[in-house]
Amino acid sequence: MAIATVLDTGLKVVGHLRLKQWNKVVPQIKSLQNGYVNISDAQLRKESLALRYRAKSGDSLEKLLPEAFALVREASKRALGMQHYEVQLLGGIAMHNHSIAEMQTGEGKTLTATLPMYLASLTGRSVHLATANDYLARRDAEWMGPVYRMLGVSVGIVETQMPRAQRARSYQSDVTYGTAKEFGFDFLRDRLLLRRTVDGSADLLGGMLGQNQNVGGDKTIQRDPYFCLVDEADSLLIDEARTPLIISAMPGEDYNTTIQTYHWAAESVDRYEEDTHYEYDYQKKTVTLNADGRRMVREIAKPVELAVVGMFDLYEHTERAIKVAREFLLDRHYVVRDGEIVIVDEFTGRLSEGRKWRAGIHQAIEAKEDVEITVETNQAARITVQDYFLRYERLAGMTGTAADSARELNKIYKVSFVAVPTNRPAQRKRFRTSVYGTAEAKYQAIVDEVLQCHDRGRPVLIGTRSIDKSERLAELLRDRGVALKVLNANNLPAEAEIVKVAGEKGKITVATNMAGRGTDIKLGKGVEQIDGLHVICTELHDSARIDRQLIGRCGRQGDPGTFHQFLSLDDDILLNGLGPRKSKSLESRGADADNVPHRLASLFRKAQAKVERKYFRQRQALMHHEREHRKIQQQMGQDPYLDTPG
Ligand SMILES: Nc1ncnc2c1ncn2[C@@H]1O[C@H](COP(=O)(O)OP(=O)(O)OP(=O)(O)O)[C@@H](O)[C@H]1O
Ligand SMILES: [Mg+2]
Repeated sequence: MAIATVLDTGLKVVGHLRLKQWNKVVPQIKSLQNGYVNISDAQLRKESLALRYRAKSGDSLEKLLPEAFALVREASKRALGMQHYEVQLLGGIAMHNHSIAEMQTGEGKTLTATLPMYLASLTGRSVHLATANDYLARRDAEWMGPVYRMLGVSVGIVETQMPRAQRARSYQSDVTYGTAKEFGFDFLRDRLLLRRTVDGSADLLGGMLGQNQNVGGDKTIQRDPYFCLVDEADSLLIDEARTPLIISAMPGEDYNTTIQTYHWAAESVDRYEEDTHYEYDYQKKTVTLNADGRRMVREIAKPVELAVVGMFDLYEHTERAIKVAREFLLDRHYVVRDGEIVIVDEFTGRLSEGRKWRAGIHQAIEAKEDVEITVETNQAARITVQDYFLRYERLAGMTGTAADSARELNKIYKVSFVAVPTNRPAQRKRFRTSVYGTAEAKYQAIVDEVLQCHDRGRPVLIGTRSIDKSERLAELLRDRGVALKVLNANNLPAEAEIVKVAGEKGKITVATNMAGRGTDIKLGKGVEQIDGLHVICTELHDSARIDRQLIGRCGRQGDPGTFHQFLSLDDDILLNGLGPRKSKSLESRGADADNVPHRLASLFRKAQAKVERKYFRQRQALMHHEREHRKIQQQMGQDPYLDTPG
């Protein structure tokens, strides 16, 4: 731990020194901009084209940086009516220098990004901005579009539901905004196409491209990966990196039997009881049938099709079905949408379309919800998020919450870390954390607090950990006569609209983590005078970074704002972090306590730190596993990202 702290401090000191160095460039940029103030828009564009010409004829980006940044700053002033603050110029320089810039929530990273993006685009090579979700990709591309266009730079967007032909055009644009997931999947699809052209194995691809895509020609669509700026860098480079991106192939022969087995296991699951028929390991989250349980499997009636299935397979199916019934909950971990199971990403509160749980879990859930069981995933192509990003020649990032992860980011992605100071001092105020015995008591207190704020007309954002909890809380509030909006994955189309007004007087918004990152809630008229937006955190998340992101929805740009964390002794974080025995005993203490001592608050943070470490280890294991997989593929002379056909 001591060494870790020293290393962390070291990274930060280096970042600080570099910042000092870069500070010297700022006056240069500003004085160059003075030279552009009086020229026409058309002339501004000409200057921009001249820069591009110089870049193509060999001038280094380093050398062009001051002029390029000056042009962007002037263009932004004209096109958007805001010009980059000095700290934003610094952030831009940091990102050009392959750093992760930590700029606090609400400091204006969207605008800052235009600086390194524009500079990189001068090369004429591919320049991507990867962000956390479709909403942010579209919002930022549209919001910053006028700045780029004023400088003659074209902007493309890649979105989940976009046909391939349109994606192809987006990738031809000078700069392209999209999510890491879509960028990654397009990379994999291109890889599959390449293999088809190389060895003619068109059949393997079958309808695969058609399945995920409206087919739009058979050419690859991404250009050589040059520069990628990663927004919400900790989310994309760390949290998302826990599961690889996978494209699956067609089903195997015994499809029907497999499906029947899943259904059979799902239907019999209620008969099995913990400790009587199986052991449940709360730490590892595994279900193991005991002798009685196995006997039950053998004796339960089965459809004739299952006669060919081995007994051990049936045990495994049963254990998986039990696990799924216990751990995977509707409207919490997944939703059913148009007859399909769609994962809800707890970190972002969003639907992870295209992603699937592995090792039969997804199919077991489909059986449980009685929707069509999708084919067992024969993987055709896969890539980890780490590998995807490492393919870029140049990588940089920005986020409001990177400090804790500086070392991990440095180690994996070879990017350095720079903490950029805020433009104006933050005015966000924290209420003393409240601890309650039960969720019930906690929710009542939350409702009371919302009502108090509401009386004064203050807008309130309430963050919850899951869809079902957001709806539950909304119901409690409505019972007390509060008009509100719910922002969760079931309400995706209304997202932009809800966010747009969430900072206005009297607005109450209950949200999942969907509102946790990137969302810019602007204060309505007169709200500054009544202390700005109030954010209520109803639970701790599995990572403190996520909590900080939620809190970061208030007190942006030096605005006033307050936040209040509510905890209760039956919170998930205690179970996840401290294990069942400890958390159960706390829970029972909570049930008969009127007054929970505040000092218990530190327990929650401790539990959270434990969960954070668990995820860290998982990421390490995944990376190790993938590295080995790649090595083997390469030894066999295969494409490391494609699985061997047949
Ligand atoms: N130079 C500027 N002048 C005036 N307003 C600005 C400037 N830069 C940013 N803003 C405003 O600050 C607000 C926050 O910007 P933005 O959403 O980009 O912040 P962020 O750093 O990305 O925050 P988060 O970490 O939450 O994503 C926006 O409303 C934006 O218009
Ligand atoms: Mg942002």
